[in-house]
Amino acid sequence: MFDGVARRYDRTNAVLSGGNAGLWRAATRRAVNPQPGERILDIAAGTGTSAAALARSGATVIALDFSQGMVDEGRRRHPGLDFVQGDAERLPFGDDEFDAVTISFGLRNVQRPQVALTEMYRVLKPGGRVVICEFSRPPSRVVRAGYYAYLRHVMPLIVGAASSNPEAYRYLFESIQDWPDQATLSQWLRTAGFTKVGHRNLTTGVVALHRGRKPQNAALRASVSQRRARSTAPKRRSSSSASPSAARSSTTDH
Ligand SMILES: C[S@@+](CC[C@H](N)C(=O)[O-])C[C@H]1O[C@@H](n2cnc3c(N)ncnc32)[C@H](O)[C@@H]1O
Repeated sequence: MFDGVARRYDRTNAVLSGGNAGLWRAATRRAVNPQPGERILDIAAGTGTSAAALARSGATVIALDFSQGMVDEGRRRHPGLDFVQGDAERLPFGDDEFDAVTISFGLRNVQRPQVALTEMYRVLKPGGRVVICEFSRPPSRVVRAGYYAYLRHVMPLIVGAASSNPEAYRYLFESIQDWPDQATLSQWLRTAGFTKVGHRNLTTGVVALHRGRKPQNAALRASVSQRRARSTAPKRRSSSSASPSAARSSTTDH
């Protein structure tokens, strides 16, 4: 789907967000706070607009995206930037490689976002930071009603005029509505092992900026690894749970 919208993707975003997309990018860049010499991974980087802004700090930035169309368009626009075609759920990097990992408007599109979060944790150095910019849930009921009305009734009209592939944007409303709220995403980050988790609402919560850290403390990291090993280890059947009904109930409990 993203292959088909790559060329006009950034312009469509600017129009649909009423110019806010630039502000959200600037806030994300400030939260990542890239430093010269750091190694930063921008996941689901699209055409590389955010990655290019991060690279201006003097950091080494890798822009990773699943869509070959996005990667091709990104390479055309930013020849100096390092693009990698890859999957957020299986990052093609070793453990502890990056000082910071960021993803903007991408986690919602990944099939198993919680798997992607554990991958982000894995490739970060101890003490490394994660920054997630994603659509979220405005806390005010009045704002939410206006926003959903815009998504349902106004956005399709704008998309028809501004996008090269209106079909590709039809799913946007549903995916935003289905996406977890700020507290749930924070909990997902903690479950993936991140500490110092927090978020900040942008544009009254239409977008939220979540952040977290891979623990510097080795004992904390070890407890995350143990918890993960326990949750992925195949369950041993005891003799008392050998009957099919007992096996069923143990799966449900888990
Ligand atoms: C809405 S765009 C966001 C692009 C860019 N981050 C931005 O802010 O403009 C979502 C991007 O996520 C990418 N994507 C979706 N699933 C992915 C996955 N599993 N791994 C990597 N990228 C993925 C798509 O190809 C698309 O470029």
